[in-house]
Amino acid sequence: MHTSVDVFAKARDHERAEQLRAAREQDLLPYFRLIESPARPVVEMEGRERIMLGSNNYLGLTADERVVNGARDALARYGTGLTGSRLLNGTTPLHVDLERELAEWMGTEEAMVFTTGHQANVGTLGAILGPGDTVVVDSGDHASLLDGAIISRAKLRPFRHGRLDKLERALARAAEDGGGVLVVVDGVFSMEGDVAPLPEIVELCQRHGARLMVDEAHGVGVLGTRGTGASEALGLEERVDLRTGTFSKSLASCGGFLAGPADVIDYLRISSRAYLFTASAVPAALGAALAALRIIRSAEGTTLMARLRENAGHLRAGLRALGLRVIEPVPPGSATGRVAAEALATPVVPVVVEDDWKAVLLWRELYDAGVYTNVALHPAVPPAGALLRTSVMATHDRDTLDRALERFAAVKPRFEAEHGPLPGS
Ligand SMILES: Cc1ncc(COP(=O)(O)O)c(C=O)c1O
Repeated sequence: MHTSVDVFAKARDHERAEQLRAAREQDLLPYFRLIESPARPVVEMEGRERIMLGSNNYLGLTADERVVNGARDALARYGTGLTGSRLLNGTTPLHVDLERELAEWMGTEEAMVFTTGHQANVGTLGAILGPGDTVVVDSGDHASLLDGAIISRAKLRPFRHGRLDKLERALARAAEDGGGVLVVVDGVFSMEGDVAPLPEIVELCQRHGARLMVDEAHGVGVLGTRGTGASEALGLEERVDLRTGTFSKSLASCGGFLAGPADVIDYLRISSRAYLFTASAVPAALGAALAALRIIRSAEGTTLMARLRENAGHLRAGLRALGLRVIEPVPPGSATGRVAAEALATPVVPVVVEDDWKAVLLWRELYDAGVYTNVALHPAVPPAGALLRTSVMATHDRDTLDRALERFAAVKPRFEAEHGPLPGS
C-alpha cells in the first residue's frame, strides 16, 4: 500500500510560507544577506558599507593578524582538513594544547573540544543524560541545549524564562521522577543578552540535589576578570558542574568546548555521539581559536573586555535616549543584581519591537541607512517578542557607534509616522 502523504508537503505549505514569500517579493527578507568583507566593525554588504551591529565577534579578533596567522600556520602544518573523528585520525597537538589551555583558563580538571558549540551542547547532554533522568531547562535556553535534552530522552521539564519560582517547582517535581537531575541554562541568554540569576539557581540546585550546566557561549571573552563567563563574574565557578562554550563568538573561529571534571570528560570522549561521529574541525579553526584564547588570557584581553563593556554601555544609553526600549542584562531584584551592574554588562543590546513585521520593516530602514542589525523573531524569542538584536565589538570606535545612533535617530520618527509607535523606554 502506498501512503498518500508527501513528506515534502511541509516544505511548500509550512506556516511561514506566506510571510516568507511576501518578504522576498518586497526584498524585505533580513536573512542570508551577503557579507563581502571580513567581519569588522564596518563591513561591505551587498555593495555598500554598513555599520556592523549584528556580529558575535565581540572582541573583534577575527581580523586580528595574530589570529589570522594562527589559522594560517595550522593550515600550513596540518592541511585543509583532518577527515576523521577525534577518536581516530582527528586529534592533533593543536587539540591537546587547546584543551589544556582551555582547562587552565576555565579552572577545571579538563576540557574537550568539539567541532561546533552546537555539538558541544548536544554531545554533552546527549551522553550525560539518559532515559530515567530529568533535565530542567529555561525556556530561553539556546536551541542546541534543547536539542541535546531531546536527544538524551531524559524527561524534559522546562520552566518560564528566568522564573525562579517555576524552576523551584520543576525541581520539586523532578525529585519525584526518580533519576538524576540536571539543570541547564545559558549564562548569558543569546537573544536578550540577559545574565542568568545564577546565585539563586546554584542554591536551588544544591537544595534539590541537582547538577548544573551553564552554556557560556556569550559570556566567554566577555564576563569575569579572566573572561571565562557569567559563572566567574558571579563568583560561582566552583558551584557550576559543567560549562560549555563556543569558538564562534569572542574566540573568533568555529568550534566548541566543554569544561568540567576529568571523569565526566573521560566518559564523554568514548560515549558522546556528536564528538565521535563527526569529523574533527579544520586545523585552521583550531589555530585561530588557540591564538584568540592566548590574546584573551593576556593583559590585552583585559583591555579589550573593558572596551567592549564601554561600547555596550554607550550604545545602550544612546538607544535608550532615543526613546527605544532596550533589554537590561540584569533582571531587577535578583541576587545577580548585587554584583556591580557594570561587571555584568553584556555586548548584546536588544531593541524591543514586539511585532514581527514591524521588526522586519525597521530592520530594512536601518539597513538602507547603512546599519546592519539582527532580526530575532519567534521561535528565537517568545511570541510577540520580536527584537532587533544589536551587539557591539571591542573594536567599534566611538565615532562609528555615534554614526549608528544618528541613523537610528533619523529613521525612528519617519518609521513611527508611517507604522505607529515603537515600544518606549
Ligand atoms: C548560547 C549558545 N550556545 C551555543 C551556540 C552554538 O555555538 P556554535 O555556533 O559554535 O555552534 C550558540 C550560537 O551559535 C549560542 O548562542
